[in-house]
Amino acid sequence: MRSGHRPVLLPHLLFLLASWSSIGSRHVASGVGVNWGTSSSHPLPAAEVVAGILRPNNITLVKLADAEPAVLEALSGSGVGVTVGIPNGMLRALSSSKKAAASWVHDNVTRYFPALRIEHIAVGDEPFLLSYGQQFQPFVLGAAMNIQLGLVAAKLANKIKVIVPCSSHVYQFNYMDNNSTGNRSDAVLLPSKGSFRPELNITMHELLSFLTKHGSPFVIDIDPFLSFQQNKNISNDYILFSSKSRQLTDGRNKYKNFFDASIDTLVTSLSKAGFGDMEIIVGRIGWPTDGAINATSSIARTFMQGLVDHLQSKSGTPQRPKKPPLETYIFSLLDEDQRAITTGDFERHWGIFTFDGQAKYNLDLGQGSKELVNARNVDYLASKWCVVNNNLDLSNVSASFRDACSNADCTALSPGGSCSGISWPGNVSYAYNNYFQQHDQRGDSCDFGGLGLITTVDPSVGECRFAVAVRSSSSPFVVAPALWWTIVMSACSLLRLT
Ligand SMILES: *[C@@H]1O[C@H](CO)[C@@H](O)[C@H](O)[C@H]1NC(C)=O
Ligand SMILES: *[C@@H]1O[C@H](CO)[C@@H](O)[C@H](O)[C@H]1NC(C)=O
Ligand SMILES: *[C@@H]1O[C@H](CO)[C@@H](O)[C@H](O)[C@H]1NC(C)=O
Ligand SMILES: *[C@@H]1O[C@H](CO)[C@@H](O)[C@H](O)[C@H]1NC(C)=O
Ligand SMILES: *[C@@H]1O[C@H](CO)[C@@H](O)[C@H](O)[C@H]1NC(C)=O
Ligand SMILES: *[C@@H]1O[C@H](CO)[C@@H](O)[C@H](O)[C@H]1NC(C)=O
Ligand SMILES: *[C@@H]1O[C@H](CO)[C@@H](O)[C@H](O)[C@H]1NC(C)=O
Ligand SMILES: *[C@@H]1O[C@H](CO)[C@@H](O)[C@H](O)[C@H]1NC(C)=O
Ligand SMILES: *[C@@H]1O[C@H](CO)[C@@H](O)[C@H](O)[C@H]1NC(C)=O
Ligand SMILES: *[C@@H]1O[C@H](CO)[C@@H](O)[C@H](O)[C@H]1NC(C)=O
Repeated sequence: MRSGHRPVLLPHLLFLLASWSSIGSRHVASGVGVNWGTSSSHPLPAAEVVAGILRPNNITLVKLADAEPAVLEALSGSGVGVTVGIPNGMLRALSSSKKAAASWVHDNVTRYFPALRIEHIAVGDEPFLLSYGQQFQPFVLGAAMNIQLGLVAAKLANKIKVIVPCSSHVYQFNYMDNNSTGNRSDAVLLPSKGSFRPELNITMHELLSFLTKHGSPFVIDIDPFLSFQQNKNISNDYILFSSKSRQLTDGRNKYKNFFDASIDTLVTSLSKAGFGDMEIIVGRIGWPTDGAINATSSIARTFMQGLVDHLQSKSGTPQRPKKPPLETYIFSLLDEDQRAITTGDFERHWGIFTFDGQAKYNLDLGQGSKELVNARNVDYLASKWCVVNNNLDLSNVSASFRDACSNADCTALSPGGSCSGISWPGNVSYAYNNYFQQHDQRGDSCDFGGLGLITTVDPSVGECRFAVAVRSSSSPFVVAPALWWTIVMSACSLLRLT
């Protein structure tokens, strides 16, 4: 279908020129972008994330976990370069049907192009994780090929690259080996020992051939926090980019930080597989700030600033000097209170901003100013909290505590968390309040068998913040049935009076 003669294209063209020319002047250092996820009970509205966080902080690269229309619409016209994502759960369907892949491309890409600057489509999200076993592995390449065909049909294949974000589980670290008889403490990550997991070698070979054929980069996710937790022999200095770090000697190469060693482990793996020249993008890297020991804002700040400064220096790695990853996506932009916590309670606290768009620490992203700018137009629910009523007999409180936490987000209460220090029954109040906010402060969500009490005095203590939820598109104003009854009855009595 040709529509090139229609005048309606003119505004699009003007718009494109305008947005492209503005990008160069305000580009964040060395291709640093952010992951923006929306697994939240009360996400900040997408328009506010774009206008209130991305724009003032000059963030021009964003990677999404899926293709939520509200997010894509908010990013349209912003000039931000976008990676849209296809969740693992869709891989099987997309690999078995070219038609399904073509409609995915139509619905989630073509429809928004070119106002939305889509750069990559991420097919799957770490589909080769060890814990997934064979669940997604057979469908990754087929889905990627069908999406590629969809792009060709939509005449977008020269503008948009298909990528497959992989976790570091695809290559072997000697210290990652789960060998209970071996001695973990003497295991050291030697980049020259990297290679793809043997059981993945056919899959990886096919995938790498596909990516190379279409000029796509290899996307790797790096998780320094988990490695730090799991390997006691990784020093703080080494992982946190400290200049005091002792060097790791690997043949002729010397490594001063975990990041470079991880990249070069991948480079070795790619070389051994015959794809040593592939470009690399880091799809996800960060440090959480709550929910675990060592998950603190202060360590996170040290890590993130070390990372950004290192990327800005453009020094590259020993195996690829002066050639840093093409792009690096910080994990993550915002906290998300509905992320799965199977790997740990810290999973809900990866943001450099809190769920409501407030910077957790100062970070110089190399974008001009030295500090992050907070979201300003945040529309909160009322200044109300739910706490436990101390004046009652609390001998039965633990059941309601458990109930609240099974629904609400109690991850800040876990050991090392920001609220782990508040004593009983403060921690019960924390759980009650979180439940209450998640239920849009409905009166009946602060009942807890009569033990709950709504207050207008902020119960936060020190580092432990009792949040008030933001009003968001997914939390429309909900009127409890009881309240409706009152409204109807008062309306009736008013009518009768007049
Ligand atoms: C577009 O993406 C959304 C979100 O990932 C998904 O729910 C929807 O099914 C996609 N459209 C098609 C036609 O697959
Ligand atoms: C390592 O092995 C132990 C015991 O066999 C098992 O419980 C644990 O889940 C394994 N860990 C990983 C990451 O595979
Ligand atoms: C586990 O480690 C021990 C000691 O390093 C080694 O002898 C053994 O071969 C390893 N087992 C496996 C399955 O890799
Ligand atoms: C593991 O390493 C420690 C420290 O080097 C050493 O003392 C210990 O004997 C080792 N254990 C095994 C089973 O090799
Ligand atoms: C810990 O790693 C360092 C290199 O970073 C190494 O020199 C040392 O031998 C390792 N310690 C143990 C106990 O394996
Ligand atoms: C995969 O790698 C392993 C270990 O290097 C090797 O033994 C095996 O033959 C390889 N398989 C294929 C199909 O290349
Ligand atoms: C991590 O936590 C442990 C235990 O609290 C502490 O000893 C260590 O210094 C912490 N690491 C950093 C980098 O702060
Ligand atoms: C964004 O870029 C502009 C122009 O380069 C600069 O004046 C401004 O301070 C930057 N904002 C931040 C938060 O760095
Ligand atoms: C606590 O629960 C038990 C069993 O449900 C009940 O019999 C008892 O009256 C309750 N106590 C209080 C103070 O509510
Ligand atoms: C709540 O605090 C009490 C007292 O500090 C503690 O014993 C209990 O384990 C805490 N519960 C949770 C879930 O944090």
